[in-house]
Amino acid sequence: MDHETSTGHVTRKAVLRAALAAGMAAPAVLMGVPALARTLTAGEAAPALTPECDDGDDPTPPQTEGPYFKPNSPLRTSLLESGTVGVRLTVSGYVFGLACRPIAGVLLDFWQADTNGAYDNTGFRFRGHQFTDAQGAFKLTTIVPGLYPGRTRHIHVKLQAPGRPVLTTQLYFPNEPRNNTDTIFDPRLLMTVRDTGGVREAAFDFVLNVPQTPGPTPTATATTQPPGGSWAAGTAYRAGDTATYGGPGYVCLQAHTAQAGWEPPNVPALWRLR
Ligand SMILES: [Fe+2]
Repeated sequence: MDHETSTGHVTRKAVLRAALAAGMAAPAVLMGVPALARTLTAGEAAPALTPECDDGDDPTPPQTEGPYFKPNSPLRTSLLESGTVGVRLTVSGYVFGLACRPIAGVLLDFWQADTNGAYDNTGFRFRGHQFTDAQGAFKLTTIVPGLYPGRTRHIHVKLQAPGRPVLTTQLYFPNEPRNNTDTIFDPRLLMTVRDTGGVREAAFDFVLNVPQTPGPTPTATATTQPPGGSWAAGTAYRAGDTATYGGPGYVCLQAHTAQAGWEPPNVPALWRLR
């Protein structure tokens, strides 16, 4: 079904592959979801969810416990280390919910092969996690991952909005010959990539299955002041820290940076009543 239907009509996927193989920009309608969901305008249909994609290279077992799974990778936006070899690459974009509003505080855990196609399975080279900022944006600084047998070029990522399930997926590069033969490849996960003076700049927007009501962004609505207490948005709490909110005291269960909407009574996975 990937190439032609029994009636001879070329399928959507085949057209897309042909377009990609020819180095043409595939029409957005063929992509299933725009690579950049931010291009949707008000009134358009809800964006399609970013699909799952997994090839077994996942070092972290799936977990949905608490507001976040616990990645083993370091907290860092750059995977470059001294002596890192490879073509420099940045991957940036936004994470949106179902109403196409950006989501702050989304955990993104990236991992990839080095320039020779090898994963570091003992340390944390080319592994790192970060959180979307208040605008729902992320940016990864890394290198173009190398190829390894059986797969096209890809970057792994797990995403989790606070208190939501983990999405395990991959990002792909356009104009890669192996995109046509890799059975795991999904064109909905293609990044847009441009070359700027030897540095590749890639962009991709994720859409997570997070219910949202259309309207102003959370930063515009979450202006409620805490009803007294030491808890404050923007504070970096560690496990074991204590804070008061509206009278009662709470103990922090998991290190995090507090933000509006994560008040202790709202997130029992982060705060336990003393
Ligand atoms: Fe992989």
